[in-house]
Amino acid sequence: MPKKLFSLEELEELRKEILSKREPDKPVITVCTGTGCQTYGATNVYETFLQEVKNQGLEDKLGVKATGCHGFCEKGVVVVVFPEEISYLKVKPEDVPEVVRAVAKKGILERLLYEDPVTGKKIAKESEIPFYKNQSRIVFGNNKYIDPKNIEDYIALGGYSALSKALSQMSSDQVLEEIDKANLRGRGGGGFPASRKWKETKNAPGEPKYVIVNCDEGDPGAYMDRSLMEGNPHSVLEGLIIGAYAIGAHEGFIYVRQEYPLACENLNWAIKQAEEYGFLGENILGSGFNFRVKVHRGAGAFVSGESSALMSAVEGKAGEPRFKYIHTAVSGVKGRPSNLNNVETWATVPLIINKGADWFRSIGTEGSKGTKIFSLVGKVNNTGLVEVPMGMTLRQVIYDIGGGILKGKRFKAVQTGGPSGGVIPEQYLDTPVDFDELTKLGSMMGSGGMVVMDEDTCMVDVARYFVNFLCEESCGKCIPCREGLRLLRVILNDVCQGKGKEGDIEVIEEVAEVMAAASLCALGTTAANPVLSTLRYFRDEYEAHIKEKRCPAKFCKDLTSFYIQPEKCQACLICLRNCPAGAINGDKGLVHWIAQEKCSKCGICFEVCPPRFSAVVKLSGEPIPEPPPPGTKVIRKKEG
Ligand SMILES: Cc1cc2nc3c(=O)[nH]c(=O)nc-3n(C[C@H](O)[C@H](O)[C@H](O)COP(=O)(O)O)c2cc1C
Ligand code: FES
Repeated sequence: MPKKLFSLEELEELRKEILSKREPDKPVITVCTGTGCQTYGATNVYETFLQEVKNQGLEDKLGVKATGCHGFCEKGVVVVVFPEEISYLKVKPEDVPEVVRAVAKKGILERLLYEDPVTGKKIAKESEIPFYKNQSRIVFGNNKYIDPKNIEDYIALGGYSALSKALSQMSSDQVLEEIDKANLRGRGGGGFPASRKWKETKNAPGEPKYVIVNCDEGDPGAYMDRSLMEGNPHSVLEGLIIGAYAIGAHEGFIYVRQEYPLACENLNWAIKQAEEYGFLGENILGSGFNFRVKVHRGAGAFVSGESSALMSAVEGKAGEPRFKYIHTAVSGVKGRPSNLNNVETWATVPLIINKGADWFRSIGTEGSKGTKIFSLVGKVNNTGLVEVPMGMTLRQVIYDIGGGILKGKRFKAVQTGGPSGGVIPEQYLDTPVDFDELTKLGSMMGSGGMVVMDEDTCMVDVARYFVNFLCEESCGKCIPCREGLRLLRVILNDVCQGKGKEGDIEVIEEVAEVMAAASLCALGTTAANPVLSTLRYFRDEYEAHIKEKRCPAKFCKDLTSFYIQPEKCQACLICLRNCPAGAINGDKGLVHWIAQEKCSKCGICFEVCPPRFSAVVKLSGEPIPEPPPPGTKVIRKKEG
């Protein structure tokens, strides 16, 4: 059982003691065991390393450690060898003996290093890989050093020093002033200033007051909060305890979605250890301040991430929103003043207290300070979690960090802000990442989803996807949201299926206006944003679907056909063999053709036709030419 700490000095002593036991020059093989890497078998890789180090008799010379997510999850299993920070990607159990031998000889195993797709150069150091090099990982960066189940790793890096500073050197008002001066804005959606909510809760009448962490993270494709909670749970806890002190709360809740078992597991470990060391419970660090926290597991409904819905769920009721003419800061959990912040917002608090508001304000733009973590996904070469300073342009994020568009295709738009956000087209690629700038374009920062779309993406289908998602997720309590979404879904399905009518666009706009004005919560008031922003920038695509029955991106199945160009077909039989519907006719030496009535439009023929022939094309809004007469022979292409 560790000794409970009773002062800043005791914490400092403990940190020194932990550091004195560590050997900074001893190689440590760290294996990312975040959920992303676990899907590639990280647990197996980690255990294989432990066993292999034993097998090679190197236990005294090499350390092995499990850490949280680094962000470049698509390259999992991610392994980094410290102190040199050599990064090995896509590591499999069978690679382990070779890696261990290389580390023991202080060598580098070239074949598992990152290879720059442009120059072909191998890059050894993780921080020099372009994906990482252009980031500013002040909140997320410690994940790679920390075993989330070992509080000493967090303490060794200065963990809990912000809490001890706040409790021993600052009054609760001074903490609040520092957060106010830093202009920390909430990372969970709307970018609301944290200090304003904290003040409102602090000044609201009624006891007890509550502080809450929102780790519901329902946006499709987003996993920033999960990775932070899994990889560095103490940073979130420390921020929460500091916030509780500033507000005058002695009880807190951490709402974690049910589908995040590892986040819950690591968080529960962290809470237990924090209690044992005296960072949670009675008389924290000898300050007289008491604070307890409970983990509440959410049932995986998107709407339960909304503040009033989340608080109802915490009370054990259905996680549905209520009208908020009385703020939750005044009447939240059990009718008491309650302050809710996002995981990333809380994890930023200790940095501000430690390094000061001026340091935090030196990062970012006039109105948006600090950094933001995004989940960069879609048609981009490097996908993963990226933390960038506010003010970096969308172009820099997508091209310098994301490595540009997949397969050299043309960029079309980027969707930010999840289901409440919108699309941003090419002409605004130089817009800085900033709460207000993104809102001006009809999108929003949201919690950090960033989906990159290329020339093959149909913007009407994008709107349909989000409306469909929200239709399923709306709680159904209020008519504008429930019925509005249903109507939008019917119209968008019709438009994508070639059944759109003149006047549909006007109905969409009218419905969107009513939903924005009259819905009960922000799910409904913002639900039409993806539709309105695609209409704003890609109205011509809607019109092409409705008037010409044409999908310009040749994506919508009902408006697209596949056709084999007889003059290009080389009768290689590949499409014929792969067609699951048996719709392709032809033989050796004979031009192939598609029986349109049998074609299921799966697109496999288009994908498998060798690029050197490119015989299969997509058609939309134009007549399909007649197939060639039976027995038409191929015109052989001269190779070379
Ligand atoms: C439908 C809906 C879902 C939401 N889901 C989340 C969520 O998963 N995580 C989150 O932090 N905020 C979510 N929010 C925003 C919260 O209501 C709240 O504003 C936020 O948690 C406050 O934290 P912040 O000020 O630190 O951003 C959602 C809002 C709505 C309307
Ligand atoms: S889970 Fe391993 S890098 Fe994200």
